[in-house]
Parts: sequence; structure tokens; C-alpha cells
Amino acid sequence: MKLFSLTAALATAFPSFTLATSLLWPVPQSIESGHVELELDTSFHISGPDIEHLQDAIDRYTQLITNERWIPVQAPFPANNQTAKPKRSRTTLGALKILIEDEDQILEHQVDESYVLDIPVGKDTGTLRSKTLWGTLRGLETFSQLVQARPNLNEDGKEEIDDYDQDEEPDYDNVGFEELYIPNAPIRIKDAPKYTHRGLMLDTSRNYFPVKDILRTIDAMAFNKMNVFHWHITDSQSFPLQLKTAPELAHQGAYKLHQRRLVYTKNDVKNIVEYAYKRGVRVIPEIDMPAHTGSWALSHKDITTCTGVHYLPGGDWSERLAAEPGTGQLNPIKNKTYQIVDKVITEVASLFPDSLFHGGGDEPVYKCWNQDQSVVDYMKEHNATGVDLLNTFLQKELGFIRKSNKTAIIWEDAVTNDNLPIPKDVILQVWINPVQNAVKKGYKVIASNYNFWYLDCGHGGWGGNDTSYDEQVPPAIPKAVAAALEKNQVSDNYNTPNWGGSGGDWCSPFKTWQRVYSYDVAFNLTEIEAENILGGEVALWAEQTDETALDVRLWPRAAAAAENMWSGRYDENSVKRDIGDAMPRMFDWRYRLLKRGIRAEALQPLWCGQNPHMCDATYPAVFQSM
Ligand SMILES: *[C@@H]1O[C@H](CO)[C@@H](O)[C@H](O)[C@H]1NC(C)=O
Ligand SMILES: *[C@@H]1O[C@H](CO)[C@@H](O)[C@H](O)[C@H]1NC(C)=O
Ligand SMILES: *[C@@H]1O[C@H](CO)[C@@H](O)[C@H](O)[C@H]1NC(C)=O
Ligand SMILES: *[C@@H]1O[C@H](CO)[C@@H](O)[C@H](O)[C@H]1NC(C)=O
Ligand SMILES: *[C@@H]1O[C@H](CO)[C@@H](O)[C@H](O)[C@H]1NC(C)=O
Ligand SMILES: *[C@@H]1O[C@H](CO)[C@@H](O)[C@H](O)[C@H]1NC(C)=O
Repeated sequence: MKLFSLTAALATAFPSFTLATSLLWPVPQSIESGHVELELDTSFHISGPDIEHLQDAIDRYTQLITNERWIPVQAPFPANNQTAKPKRSRTTLGALKILIEDEDQILEHQVDESYVLDIPVGKDTGTLRSKTLWGTLRGLETFSQLVQARPNLNEDGKEEIDDYDQDEEPDYDNVGFEELYIPNAPIRIKDAPKYTHRGLMLDTSRNYFPVKDILRTIDAMAFNKMNVFHWHITDSQSFPLQLKTAPELAHQGAYKLHQRRLVYTKNDVKNIVEYAYKRGVRVIPEIDMPAHTGSWALSHKDITTCTGVHYLPGGDWSERLAAEPGTGQLNPIKNKTYQIVDKVITEVASLFPDSLFHGGGDEPVYKCWNQDQSVVDYMKEHNATGVDLLNTFLQKELGFIRKSNKTAIIWEDAVTNDNLPIPKDVILQVWINPVQNAVKKGYKVIASNYNFWYLDCGHGGWGGNDTSYDEQVPPAIPKAVAAALEKNQVSDNYNTPNWGGSGGDWCSPFKTWQRVYSYDVAFNLTEIEAENILGGEVALWAEQTDETALDVRLWPRAAAAAENMWSGRYDENSVKRDIGDAMPRMFDWRYRLLKRGIRAEALQPLWCGQNPHMCDATYPAVFQSM
């Protein structure tokens, strides 16, 4: 009896990691698997209906599987369990057949992405069934992760190990499906996303990213079953998007570096949108306004206020003119402002086929409008506050977005901070307040709380001549503060910025993958309220990132969010998904992303993956008697 319970505990808590199904990322909703190693036939092929984008996806995954030849990095635990050794199947898998119910379904908001993947033993053909092509793509990704390669063996039958060859080229000597197998057949996976909106936001205004880096990001998103690339294209620092109806905006407002204008042409946009679409990733553009528009002033000074000045004129945060260096806000009382905004929104909406459009709307700074005498006069004359002007602006902007037949997303600020009467069909992207504030007001929500999902945090302050870092000893804590800490018995937790504290970063600390994984977007919501959550997005604001650091900032942390959004924070039995269970899979997945060309950062010494659970904060009690 005792032995039985131990075995049962092991089976549920730590399935043997040689099993491919226990390495899947993101983890599917339901998996049944067996103990047979099923070889892929050398003539293995994937077949499906002749519809647009499917043959392309089949070619892509065929190439990926035969190039990747995956051998798990994460060691199984417990090691050398001979009884767990699976049997090899006498038959091989000759084909994977794809069946799609609705072949014409386009990729759109809330499209069905479910699939059922069957890998039988003793039959020649596996099947991948889905309602739409977009479910097929998710299923192909899962299939690719099931396939592993047998290591080359030496004459003694042992795994061949060569010394690292410093001059070696990447070894993509494609030998087809030879020696590829699926470890734990038969397999039946039934899967569907918990949330329909699983996004990644990239800011291309603070720093510019070449198109190839954006395309690579979209590849990685597809590997992680993420489906929305939220492109925060413009901001105060630069306006990189070329527009036909307002060419001056990028001509003057884009960065110029080494005699090049860092822009995205109409053709670049088309390439990105098409590349993403084929991989099941929608592209939603954001043109942030009325704040975050300093770059517009380089061509249209007359429709902006407070541009080109220091953002903290008196050195005091309450007197700020912008949320960060790079001032400038659109002037809300000028007709010309709206003429240009209308043109920009109409053209951008036409460049991006998706039905959603992000209108920004975050961080209005009313003091910036106060810099302009005509705005001040207007406010006096109309007895209007800054909040009133924001409302005027946003209602007009939302009108332009509606006129383009798009559903608007805006950042939550106007509703949760300023309580403006924004129509309920506008989706709110939540970043600073709890999800529940917007949800309880009846808005549909995209969750991006900065305490969990801002991937830029934790890199310190980036301002110039910040003398606060020049501090050789910890500063004295003011007596009153010290007394309050003492009284509340929290002295041990109090750190000044340079001495164990924030490091001068507004949103520190760095969000570790465990932190990213832990976001419970439906926290403290009733089931009915939670229905207002469409999903979430991790966000990478690019003040301290350009293409040199893009992959390491994003991956594999964005993958942690991807599993959170696809699989859900809780499993089908309402059991919270465990970081301890995710760790070995995350470890393996990171190396797999590397092999797929994504420079994901290291999470642990390799030793940890090869000595399972030895790096865990607590050694699992279940193993202590072994
Ligand atoms: C070894 O593998 C078998 C079969 O999977 C399993 O029942 C058993 O619990 C494993 N033993 C240990 C010590 O993990
Ligand atoms: C702006 O437009 C409004 C309405 O279209 C009009 O009444 C007003 O006179 C215009 N103001 C200016 C300064 O052109
Ligand atoms: C101006 O607006 C405020 C509310 O914002 C209101 O309380 C006040 O009565 C108004 N004053 C006039 C003169 O309309
Ligand atoms: C928006 O939809 C309406 C009705 O279907 C159509 O007449 C109009 O041309 C569309 N406008 C745009 C910009 O697509
Ligand atoms: C840097 O800041 C310090 C402290 O505010 C100031 O004394 C100093 O003049 C500044 N240096 C430069 C080069 O601006
Ligand atoms: C949970 O929500 C209730 C109201 O719905 C609120 O009063 C309470 O403070 C919330 N709890 C936390 C921990 O946020």
C-alpha cells in the first residue's frame, strides 16, 4: 500500500521526462499517452486539403522537424529507471493526415484554435483534426514538439560524444526522418486555448527594430502558440511608419542614423502582416495618442503642445510634462489636429487587415496642455478641465477608429484613472490597476499588469547624469521612516535603491520567468466577471532594448506568459499550475528555442537540468527517502 502511494505520487508529480508529452510547451489541456516508441517512417509525410497557407505550413514544419532532430536536454528523473524503458514499436508512422472542418475560416479575433491530435500505434497514419486552419497550425506545433531524434551511438552502443569543435558550422545535415521517433505513443491530445487573445507587444519607437528581427519574433510567438503581435509603432521618440497620406510624419519624425532613415515602408508592413498571418499571428497596430506624440511635432509643431522641453522642468515629478524624456502631446482644441489624426488612423487601419485597432490613450499629462496659452484660454472659456479635453480627444479618435470599421483597444487609463465615459465596446488594455477595476465596469479586458508582464523592467534607470548611483555607503534612513518600519516590523525588507532596492527603475525588479508565469489574470473575479478577460499581452517597451538584446529580453520569459494564456493558470480540475512542474519543461523548451534560432536567455546552469530538482528551492519530499 505504501509502495503504491509512492508510485502514484511520482507518476502525478514527476512523470518520467523522457516522455515527449511531458515536455510540451505550452502544456495541452488533455493528454493521453502510452509507452511505445514509434519510429517515423523514412517516407513520413504530412498531408492535408489543398487550401491556402496549409501547404506552406506543412513544408515549414517538415523542414523544422527534420532540421531540429531534438534530443531532450533536461535529464529524466529518476535516472536509469529500467522498468520505465519503453518498448519500440514494430510498425512505423507513415503519415500525419490533416482534417479541417471549415477550410475557409479566416484568422480573426476569437477564431477557433482547438485541435485533436491522434498518434496511434499499429496503424500507418496519425490524424490532426481541427475546426479551422488556425487550430491545425497549433496542432502541427504540438506534433513537432513530440518528435525526438535518437543520438548517434558508438561501437559499444553508447551515446557518441565528440569534443566541442570551435570551428563547426551548425549541423543541419538534413537526413530526413531517419532515426526520428515519438517516445510515448499511442498519444491523444485534445487541446484548445484558455484565452483567445495571447499577445506580445513590441515598442518600435524608443528604439528601432529591423524587419527581420520582428519576423523572428513572430516565429517564436508561433512556436509558443501566441496569436497577437501588438505593434506599438509610434511614440514621442520616433515615428517610423511611412504613410502615403501624411509622408511628412515619418520623413521628419523617424530616427535618422548613419545617414539612414529608420522607417517601415508600406511594403515592410505588408511583409510583416502576411508573414504573421501564415503563422496564425494577427498584427494589431497601435498609434499612441494624444500623449506620447512628441515625434509628430517634427513635421507638425502646430498641432502639438510642450514639445522639445525637459520633461521635469522643476525637477519635481508632480510638475512633469511627460511620463519620460520626450515631451509632446497633440493639441486637443485644434481642428487641424483632428484632420491629421483622421488621415493617420484611416490609412493605418487600411494597412492592417485585423478588426482590432489600438488607439493608445495612455498617460495623458495635463500640464503639457497647460503650456499652450490657446489651450488655457479655451479651458477658461469653456470651463473645461484637462480630463474634459482628454474626453473630447478620445471620443473623436474613437469615432475615426469606428469609421474605419475597427474595434478599438485603448490603454485603461481613461476609464480606471479618469473615469471617462468610454463606450463599453472599447477593449481596455490593463497595465497599472488590477484587472478587476476595468472588468467590474463591464469592459472586455486584455491583461498586461506591469508587475508581472512588463519585460523591460529591472534594467535600472536610463536617464543621463543620474548622480543617485554615486553612493559609496547606504544612505541614512530618515528617522521617521525608520521608526515606522520598526513599528511595522518590516525593517528587514526595506532597501534603498542602490543597496538591495529598486536600482533606480520605476518598475523593478526584473520579472523572472517564474513571476511572469505566476500572473493570475482572473484573480479575485467571479466566473461571470472573468468572462470579460479576452487574454493578455506581455509588453516590451524599448527604452533599453534594440535588436541586439531583443531575443534575450523576450525569451523564454514570454513563453511563460504564453503557457499562462494558452493552458491557463489553473488546470481543468482547478488546480493551480505549478512552477515546479513547469521548470523542467521550461528548461528544455529554452534549449529548443535556441535550436530554432531564437537566442533565448539561459535560466540556470546546465547542471540543474542534468541534475533534476537539485536546484529547486526545496527538494521534493517525495524523493527524500529514495
Ligand atoms: C519507473 O518507471 C515505472 C514505469 O513508468 C514506474 O511505474 C516506476 O514508478 C518508476 N520508478 C521510479 C523509482 O521512479
Ligand atoms: C473647427 O470646426 C468646427 C466644427 O467643424 C467649427 O465650428 C469651427 O469653427 C472650426 N474652428 C476653426 C478654428 O476652424
Ligand atoms: C465649471 O465646471 C465645474 C465642474 O467641472 C462646475 O462645478 C462649475 O459649476 C462650472 N462653472 C461654471 C461657471 O459653469
Ligand atoms: C465600413 O463598413 C461599411 C458597411 O459595411 C462600408 O460601407 C464601408 O465602406 C466600410 N469602410 C471601410 C473604411 O472599410
Ligand atoms: C550632473 O548632476 C550634478 C548633480 O545634479 C550636477 O552638479 C552636475 O553639474 C551635472 N553634470 C553635468 C555635466 O551636467
Ligand atoms: C477582492 O475584490 C473585492 C471586491 O470585489 C475587494 O473588496 C477586495 O479588496 C479584493 N481583494 C483583493 C485582495 O484585492
